[in-house]
Amino acid sequence: MLRDNILNMQSSEIRKKFLDFFKERGHVIVPSSSLIPDDPSVLLTTAGMQQFKPYYVGKADPMRDFGSKNTTSAQKCFRTSDIDEVGDKTHLTFFEMLGNFSFGGYWKKEAIHWAYEFIVNELGIDRERVSVTVFGGDSEVPQDKESYNIWHKEIGLPESKIKKHSRQDNFWGPTGSEGPCGPTTEIYVAPTVAEAMAGKGVEVWNLVFNEYYCRPSAGSGQVLEKLEIPGVDTGMGLERLAIMLQGKDNVFETDLFQPLISKIEEAKPGLDEKVLRVLADHLRASIFLVADGLRPSNKEAGYILRRLLRRVLVYGIKYDIHADLFSLAVESVKENFGKWYPEVKNTKEILNVLMEEKSKFEKALVLGVKEIEKYDSISAKDAFYIYETFGLPWELLKELVPEKVKNLDQNAYDEEFKKHQEISRAGLEKKFGGHGLILDTGELKAANQEELEKVTRLHTATHLMQEALRRVLGPEVHQMGSDITVERTRFDFSFSRKLTDEEVKKIEDLVNGAVQEDLPMTFVLMPLDEAKKSGALYSAKEKYPEIVKVYYAGHDLKTAFSKELCGGPHVSNTLKVGKFKISKQEAVAAGVRRIRGVVA
Ligand code: ALA
Repeated sequence: MLRDNILNMQSSEIRKKFLDFFKERGHVIVPSSSLIPDDPSVLLTTAGMQQFKPYYVGKADPMRDFGSKNTTSAQKCFRTSDIDEVGDKTHLTFFEMLGNFSFGGYWKKEAIHWAYEFIVNELGIDRERVSVTVFGGDSEVPQDKESYNIWHKEIGLPESKIKKHSRQDNFWGPTGSEGPCGPTTEIYVAPTVAEAMAGKGVEVWNLVFNEYYCRPSAGSGQVLEKLEIPGVDTGMGLERLAIMLQGKDNVFETDLFQPLISKIEEAKPGLDEKVLRVLADHLRASIFLVADGLRPSNKEAGYILRRLLRRVLVYGIKYDIHADLFSLAVESVKENFGKWYPEVKNTKEILNVLMEEKSKFEKALVLGVKEIEKYDSISAKDAFYIYETFGLPWELLKELVPEKVKNLDQNAYDEEFKKHQEISRAGLEKKFGGHGLILDTGELKAANQEELEKVTRLHTATHLMQEALRRVLGPEVHQMGSDITVERTRFDFSFSRKLTDEEVKKIEDLVNGAVQEDLPMTFVLMPLDEAKKSGALYSAKEKYPEIVKVYYAGHDLKTAFSKELCGGPHVSNTLKVGKFKISKQEAVAAGVRRIRGVVA
């Protein structure tokens, strides 16, 4: 397809042009904020305005922080909504958003004129290719006549190129949480004049006029309150713009992806287009997430990262890719994006995180695959069990053994998963209805998020303490019982006499020493007999499953300070335990002592 006005503008030039353009018009250039937001209402940063939320609502003063009421940025964003769509021509998880923002500085007239000027004059896009939409109004919010008139009367767009759309299309605000919101006007650009004439075009720029503050209401709707100072929030997808300006058919052909795509192709020629795209998107996104400090885990944002990485790893196996995709991608992202986002230059640490996840995955996979072999057909419940025990998400079962999951009811799986998420999203739901507890493992009990955090710290302290008891008193010490509440850990063990003050002090010092070393607290999955042979501590009274988790405090299992068969939960690093102290000791029966410990 021939395209008009192909300038072949590189993405670096687009970013620079955008930021300079708004700088010349009184905006302060603000660096992208982290993908991991301060704002607890979202898991990951999804828009340029996110870091500026406090300025829209008058909670922070832009003059004090920026010396201006107007800012501009190129923001790293991540949206989970499109994860399953990645692989086609347009959908991505990670992307960059160019934006200009105002907190009471200017309003619709300037925002619209500048946007148009940038598109037509700076980028050189033929004005015939441009069309727009504005908010058409509904029972709650009036039609945005002001924007309509600016486009029509001041800029001279014909009426046929200004479409009025509903609340669903032309009103922007937070989904499911609260924040600034308001009507939008969106700018569309068609690849050619001919296509523009046929009414086609791709949305490239969203101009939001934040006049309201939205709160979710008790029903399914929203409550809108007028904001004291109206604000401007705009967002333009860099990737879409690059497609237009580089005359490409899709985002993977632009300079934002080509270097990485060609490296993957070189490493493994002949990969299917879709596979290449998924790999490129997931690798790039994971690297940016890790560079901002996110680590793979089993919940929330960490779980999103884990899913991306595990999909890459499964593709590696499925498509027989022997090259080290992680190293190759880390280098490519550094070269392509390091100048704009210096955090991706931290290649050594990023690669370490990726490699660690790879080795965890490989261990889980060996066990997981053995488990999968047992099934002719995998039900939703089985799939969830496999996920929980072996860390293989259902998305991966679809890749690994599609024929075994073809009858799996995805809704039923989602239900299982939701139940699990609700438990880990502790504090939101009182899961164990009768007791009003969000966690009840028998050993640990917690009624809310705060308690959960405290008992988790005490639980890790208990592991360190058991190890310390054995080091100080001898290996005849065995666990006879353990009970942890929000106030203390209580631990029963086989031993025949009262501990001396000196012994108590030694035990406390050993525990606090391990805390101060800030050891990672993680687990590996192992067959039970292997776990017992590894020297990990376990309770003789307990019945364990065939595959167990061995939690260890240390950098690897061999050299760990403590290792124990356990279901968790634990803190991620021992420093989080805090200062440990033995608060009481007593005898419970002949040969059985009880001690209590606290953390501060
Ligand atoms: N915040 C607006 C968006 O993300 C600009 O589309």
